[in-house]
Amino acid sequence: MSAKKKGATKSGATDAPVATTASLFGDEGNRDEYLALVAELLEHDRRYYVDNNPSIADVEYDQKKKRLDALEAAHPDWVVAHSPSKRVGHTPLSGFAKVERAVAMLSLDNTYSAEDLTDFYSRVMRGLQGAGDKRVPELVVEPKIDGIGIELTYKAGVFVLGATRGDGLIGEDVTQNLRTVKNLPMMLKEKVDLLVRGEVYMPRDGFDKLNAERLSAGEEPFKNPRNATGGTLKQLDSRIVAKRPLRVLLYEVVGEVPGIATHSGLLDYLRRLGLPVYPDTKTVGSLDALLADTKVWQDKRMSLPFDVDGLVLKVNDLSQREVLGFTARAPRWAIAYKFPAQQGTTKLLDVELGVGRTGVVTPVAVLAPVELAGTTVSRASMHNWDQIARLGVMVGDFVLVEKAGEIIPQIVAVVKERRVGRESELRAIPPPSHCPECGDVLIKRPGEVALRCPNTKPCPRQLREAITFFCNRDAMNISGLGDKLVEALVSARHIRDLADLFSLTKAQLLSLPRLGEKSADNVLFAIASGRAEATLSRFLTALGIHGIGWVWAQKIAEQYLSLEQLLRTPPDAVYRLLVGIHGFGEERAGAVRDYLSDPQSQALLRKFVSLGLSPTEPVASTGPLLGKTFCITGTLSKPRGDFQKRIESAGGKFTSSVTKKTSYLIVGAEPGEDKRAAAIKNSVPILDEAALEALLRGETP
Ligand code: IVH
Repeated sequence: MSAKKKGATKSGATDAPVATTASLFGDEGNRDEYLALVAELLEHDRRYYVDNNPSIADVEYDQKKKRLDALEAAHPDWVVAHSPSKRVGHTPLSGFAKVERAVAMLSLDNTYSAEDLTDFYSRVMRGLQGAGDKRVPELVVEPKIDGIGIELTYKAGVFVLGATRGDGLIGEDVTQNLRTVKNLPMMLKEKVDLLVRGEVYMPRDGFDKLNAERLSAGEEPFKNPRNATGGTLKQLDSRIVAKRPLRVLLYEVVGEVPGIATHSGLLDYLRRLGLPVYPDTKTVGSLDALLADTKVWQDKRMSLPFDVDGLVLKVNDLSQREVLGFTARAPRWAIAYKFPAQQGTTKLLDVELGVGRTGVVTPVAVLAPVELAGTTVSRASMHNWDQIARLGVMVGDFVLVEKAGEIIPQIVAVVKERRVGRESELRAIPPPSHCPECGDVLIKRPGEVALRCPNTKPCPRQLREAITFFCNRDAMNISGLGDKLVEALVSARHIRDLADLFSLTKAQLLSLPRLGEKSADNVLFAIASGRAEATLSRFLTALGIHGIGWVWAQKIAEQYLSLEQLLRTPPDAVYRLLVGIHGFGEERAGAVRDYLSDPQSQALLRKFVSLGLSPTEPVASTGPLLGKTFCITGTLSKPRGDFQKRIESAGGKFTSSVTKKTSYLIVGAEPGEDKRAAAIKNSVPILDEAALEALLRGETP
């Protein structure tokens, strides 16, 4: 698999001839070639991540990257800080250095209404007229991304420093972290010195995925994309930052650029330099046009891939900006316009019970409808009964509702003052004792707060949720099975367990009300292609085993390679192997063992196999390391992830524990004794980094 883009080549990319391994690694290269290769790879990164328009095929990119890695390994003294190899992060820092700046990063005054905006516009007009400028000011309208402000320094076109805002004058040096941000160019298209400001943020889909991973790893989810960005930027270990989906967008230049007289001109200039610039900026020439545009934005904001908490309005003409100047804390030529409130007070009418895929029963608040950030909210999540007890909330209460991360509304507090005189209307919310769907007695697992339906019946609601999860894009990727259809299939008893999906017939589908010939064919086609494309890791993810998201499902799949192999292995042996994998943990390994030894799931898995679904995990089919399995212990000259990628793209497999199946253990500085002992016990050859490099070049060490 491509080290970088995982099959995402856009149309327009060409399959260029690929250099042979010999021509790649056969010569020593020279420094000029190395520097040219750095620049070339950075330009490809930029085309891919900034322009969304790659001009090279993945394989070709990977070959060039391999050449770069080989040159850097052979000549560590050549390596430059802006090399693409630095994108994967670096050894952790002990703290962030302070960065003092000459031009403070100021804040913006906020406005909340059309009246406030009218006032701002008149203030700007008066300010200009007072200075003898009779022109009607033009304003640029930009989204206000809810991220973290940053300042980037480029010297002779090379990214050399990235700093946070801090207190405005003194920020923190987060260069190492920002180098890992994929759409932040390490090099500009021109060799200019530039100080540029903008926002680092986390797109919403990346945020959702990160939180899902954190939840399945038993970690606390981030409250919203902004918190996730802040938390990530403060990480001392940039290798963690490299795994988080941060992006930057830029919107201001510090200092003058000869020949450019407007802000919109500056934004164009930044685009020409190859920098990612705020999208959708618009120049308006009147107050009416400005007010109209704020309305357009209130709808548009929800369709953007990132959170926007308002707009920023800026005077376009740079000489007019100069005339208007600053107050102590903010410019007079710009203002933030915040979208209507995300919080509101409303009455809790009732609490309904939801049953999830794993049987967790959750309280769902039914609210008197309230407008929040432009949408009407009438339901909110209450998580669990511990949360209800913490809030002390009762049915009939007035509650404060907030849109967290702008998606799922939450109850954040009870307005206790509004209980006075209404005490008799209030009703407590006790935890339920039985599943609202199937009537089974609910249980609590040790150490968990959630109430669960044990699913002994089985529970139709759980099955519906499990089917939807199974078909999810990151799981079996079966599209077209919407909630209504799943519900109909379950209640018609055409699907009684997940495996029944694969024996579904056209006749069964056509027997459902309002389902035509064409839709039936589409559903069957989607199921067939899901089956055809299923890998073991997708399949294991789709089963929804407690704590096993796709990251861990991949680890399991790497070990067993096929469902049949996994089923042949005794559950206790699976447990022993999985607990040996770094980070897997006893709880997760235990959940897998429990799942595999449960007669009900054993029957289900056998049924999948009998219906022709026995997924395998693909392994690279070429390369000098084909069929070899590697494990690394101790510190090597580059992060372990680098070697992992190189081993995998050379056809090898990378594992985090030593077993009989391991071909080589690679030992670096301060190795772990366990792995070394395991290697000796299993007669696994132990090699150093130089020997690994030789193997990667196709030589025998
Ligand atoms: S201009 C002096 N433009 O909002 C001008 N800021 O509340 C300062 N922000 O600290 C910034 N989007 O982090 C500007 N299009 C945009 C922005 C933006 C988001 C942030 C920025 C700033 C904060 C002020």
